[in-house]
Amino acid sequence: MSRPSPDVRREVGMQLSYALYGAANRMARLHKPFLEPLGLTFPQYLVMLELFSSTPRFVGELGAKLDMDTGTITPLLKRLEVAGMVTRTRNPADERRVCINLTKAGEALRSEVWGITDKIKTACQLTDDGLAELRNTLDAFARPLVTERGAQQPKKDALMKIGIIGAGNIGATIARKLAASGHDVKLANSRGPETIHDLARDLGAVAVSKEQAVKDVEVVVLSLPFAKYPDLASLFSNVPPEVVVIDTSNYYPFRDGAINEIDNGKPESVWVSEQIGRPVIKAWNAVLSHTLSETGKPEGAPGRIAIPVAGDDAEAKATAMQLVGTTGFDALDAGTLAESWRQQPGTPAYCTELTQKELQSALASADKQRAPQYREALIKEFIAGNGKITHDEMVARNRAVTVM
Ligand SMILES: NC(=O)c1ccc[n+]([C@@H]2O[C@H](COP(=O)([O-])OP(=O)(O)OC[C@H]3O[C@@H](n4cnc5c(N)ncnc54)[C@H](OP(=O)(O)O)[C@@H]3O)[C@@H](O)[C@H]2O)c1
Repeated sequence: MSRPSPDVRREVGMQLSYALYGAANRMARLHKPFLEPLGLTFPQYLVMLELFSSTPRFVGELGAKLDMDTGTITPLLKRLEVAGMVTRTRNPADERRVCINLTKAGEALRSEVWGITDKIKTACQLTDDGLAELRNTLDAFARPLVTERGAQQPKKDALMKIGIIGAGNIGATIARKLAASGHDVKLANSRGPETIHDLARDLGAVAVSKEQAVKDVEVVVLSLPFAKYPDLASLFSNVPPEVVVIDTSNYYPFRDGAINEIDNGKPESVWVSEQIGRPVIKAWNAVLSHTLSETGKPEGAPGRIAIPVAGDDAEAKATAMQLVGTTGFDALDAGTLAESWRQQPGTPAYCTELTQKELQSALASADKQRAPQYREALIKEFIAGNGKITHDEMVARNRAVTVM
């Protein structure tokens, strides 16, 4: 049989994506007339099916099973609650866990919801074997060991207790991804746990004080504005030395004020480790929050973005690299903390969305003298853009200005 020519292969009708898109649309269309009379959307139908198989269920568990992140499943469950089909109650033994149960009205839909499966089978005109084969192929394609946008399921014995200080763009995203992968995550900010209670719950974490965030954990992630690190000076005095501390911070004088030691060349994370009185691993600092939140991919996926990880302790660095992988990125060993200036703002490795191989060259070609100058030029440009510069434009400008 002759192969299609390259031009024909580019036609939309030859694309796997187009075939899957068409199939998904047809499935939604087939379900609609059966779901509408029950007052259910398609995702709600999937949740109800899962609840009919067993209740009560925790929100995180349902989300993991259905590949829905907390931002999707939480409002969906709230709507089912308003419609009187489920109850949502907090687990008194573990405040962050919300437990879902069926109400009588929800339970009453069981036979009708189950009946939809047969109606769809008839509408698809596939044999039982044909249906099973198609489902297995699509399942293997859709779920290659991934739980949410690139967040990878670690082995059970690799699950860790993690405290995150800083609940902003970066801290909250890391919390969401690590919690979705099964890690036990505590989250703290500057104003106290009561101010991030709902946020932490939605992320699958527990809101705690800073002091609690560093207690009884294996890893601490620090993700606060650079100038605030001296506030943590005494926080680690009783934290065992084997606890891995990961720093995501970057220094921006316009925001953080001028810090002479950094301006004179001290790598940012060396300064951070001096402020808190213990070594840190630098990771997740060299990706924009949108990159971290939206572009993670499973291990081995083509074009997976790489994140540099620097630090002096090999074991601690390995742990940090493992967690970076869990958030959906290739982790690249970027050397010691003294070398970590190579991944600071204004370098070619910083927020340029490179693959592992590209990142390696970018780190090698960094220019320590010029980086602060590039950092200032770029941030000035982004601020002048007044929020109108898109994410892709930012990455493109970072690449263009810091050229390797
Ligand atoms: N945004 C990015 O694209 C990006 C990318 C990579 C790295 N980073 C770096 O990562 C760090 C965090 O950035 P971000 O954008 O996530 O910041 P952000 O959105 O402003 O959030 C900062 C968080 O830190 C908390 N915080 C401030 N001072 C604190 C203190 N003394 N003790 C405990 N918590 C404190 C804040 O809590 P309150 O709200 O209660 O004050 C807030 O939750 C920064 O160093 C940043 O340069 C940012």
